[in-house]
Amino acid sequence: MHFSLKGKVIFFATNNINKFNEARKIFNEFQMAVAMIRVKTLEIQSENLEEIAKTSAIEAFKKCNLPIIVEDAGLFVEAVNGFPGPYASYVYKTIGNEGLLKLMEQTENRKAKFQSVIAYCDADIETPLCFKGEAMGEIVKEPRKAKNKHGFGFDPIFRPLNSNKTFAEMDVEEKNKYSHRAKALRKFAEFYKKLK
Ligand code: IMP
Repeated sequence: MHFSLKGKVIFFATNNINKFNEARKIFNEFQMAVAMIRVKTLEIQSENLEEIAKTSAIEAFKKCNLPIIVEDAGLFVEAVNGFPGPYASYVYKTIGNEGLLKLMEQTENRKAKFQSVIAYCDADIETPLCFKGEAMGEIVKEPRKAKNKHGFGFDPIFRPLNSNKTFAEMDVEEKNKYSHRAKALRKFAEFYKKLK
């Protein structure tokens, strides 16, 4: 069987297959290919997603010497002053969706947003370049997901503006119409397409 890769290739350092699958569809729109690469990077403690993503990108690049992107995302809930923000991963692991919903039980203001930062690094770049995306929406009162279980993380409890579905009720194509990551990835793909 013939396997040919046309166009440019980018390496995505992530251990999250869901993030990779979302990225694969975006790069496909740009006739580009993305390869998932698992390199262990330390996620520094910072309140700044950009700083976290840049540090991981430098580390990942040093390990594999390939043109590489990393992504860092955060969830910011308005009623709790932007909590969990960049600590979303820790909060997901500890209290999860149920815990976050419990925290918001008495809260009428459900406004929340996801932010994504893609940091890109290659041999010609001194400081990684960042591309950002944001999805405004709300935290629903009960988790909702499709029967065949789409999504990951906070997907079952986040409904983006202009849709009545949570991210977990959408397939990847539909999530990519609204998501923070898709917006950041498209900005990056536009840049990378033109890079000589
Ligand atoms: P990370 O550090 O970028 O991997 O993400 C921080 C936390 O937010 C993790 O717990 C992820 O599961 C969660 N997260 C990131 N992006 C998304 C998303 O698109 N949907 C739902 N949860 C997400």
